[in-house]
Amino acid sequence: MSYKVLIIGCGRVAVKHLKAISSLKELELAAVVDTNEESAKKLLGSVSGFASTKIYSDYKQAIEEIKPDITAVTVPSGLHYQIASFAMENGSNLLLEKPMTMSSAQSREIYDISRRTGRKIAMGHIYRYLPIVGLVRDDINNGRFGKVTHGSIYVRWGHGEDYYSSAAWRGTWKSDGGAMMNQTIHAIDLLVWLMGSEPVEAQAMLAKRLRNIEAEDLGMAILRLENGALASVEGTTSTLESKHDAEFSVFCENGSISMGLSSGKPHIGIFEKKANGKVKKLNGYYIRKQFKEGGIFSYKCALNPHLGIYKDLADSLTEDREPLADAYAGYSSVDTLMGIYRSAKLKQPVELPLKEDFSSVDMAGFFEE
Ligand SMILES: NC(=O)c1ccc[n+]([C@@H]2O[C@H](COP(=O)([O-])OP(=O)(O)OC[C@H]3O[C@@H](n4cnc5c(N)ncnc54)[C@H](O)[C@@H]3O)[C@@H](O)[C@H]2O)c1
Repeated sequence: MSYKVLIIGCGRVAVKHLKAISSLKELELAAVVDTNEESAKKLLGSVSGFASTKIYSDYKQAIEEIKPDITAVTVPSGLHYQIASFAMENGSNLLLEKPMTMSSAQSREIYDISRRTGRKIAMGHIYRYLPIVGLVRDDINNGRFGKVTHGSIYVRWGHGEDYYSSAAWRGTWKSDGGAMMNQTIHAIDLLVWLMGSEPVEAQAMLAKRLRNIEAEDLGMAILRLENGALASVEGTTSTLESKHDAEFSVFCENGSISMGLSSGKPHIGIFEKKANGKVKKLNGYYIRKQFKEGGIFSYKCALNPHLGIYKDLADSLTEDREPLADAYAGYSSVDTLMGIYRSAKLKQPVELPLKEDFSSVDMAGFFEE
């Protein structure tokens, strides 16, 4: 079975999509869409074998004519809602980039459309697809490490003015948000997923330290989860541009798990306290287990996690099951992020899930107040 894919938005991230599509026999690229033809040509020229692929400038026309099995939504975040809803209402499943939308209510609506129409959504939450992460998550959730006490995550993804000035939508409240919304939302999703419980409260502060943008270049938040565990989050683009570092840690009664990337190099530290009180390092055990099991968490996915997302989405269509980073993950992570923004705005903790809609445009003027 081969699924027809339509890519809408031919910029930076679309290259990762195209590489993944080109290496999976289950997928076939039917066409691409971009309002800028040059961007579409550049994308198609970046991977061999796609130079004659059909290019559209109007996404509605492309969806109606191509009738894709999968629409990859890789446009600026402020356009996700309108394109994702149109594609699903016209029969397509989605690979939807993060964040799902720019508001809690719109994300809830996308989740509801997915349930009503039966269309599947795989979110671009790449961290869920990294090797070993899934194995560790299974063991945290089956109780191997005992009670989860707390967790933390940092995303120090340095970006300079050139990144923000490369496209007008970057760093704006309407179309992107700041370091928490763009660079950190999928890391928040990962931490909450690993810890196995939903956020019920958020408390946060935002700052604009170095970058000349509307939204935050630094955010810090604390989440309380339903099971009582606490999670801390730091997300920033104001660190050195040459350094892209991210790490999560989960602490449990009988173990601790840390994994991260430092300028592309992975590091892990997984420890378990045995019944005799001795602490054992489990790195080798998980590396061997992952190597043996392969699957969507295979080492190939470490180089391009979008490969894992596409493979999982194709399998989920064939097997009629939900993808690993599903529509609920997309909605829930936006709801948490909007809770973080709302808490920063109100300077007080907020309850989650949000009872009323909050949107990133509600943050307009935040740093001018
Ligand atoms: N999961 C990840 O690791 C990851 C990484 C980077 C970006 N992203 C997400 O991917 C999305 C795109 O980010 P990017 O950095 O590739 O942006 P980009 O600006 O490089 O590319 C966006 C492309 O969309 C096109 N476009 C704009 N409006 C359009 C429309 N109406 N119809 C068709 N095309 C249109 C633009 O011309 C541009 O080529 C964002 O939502 C971002 O958050 C995800």
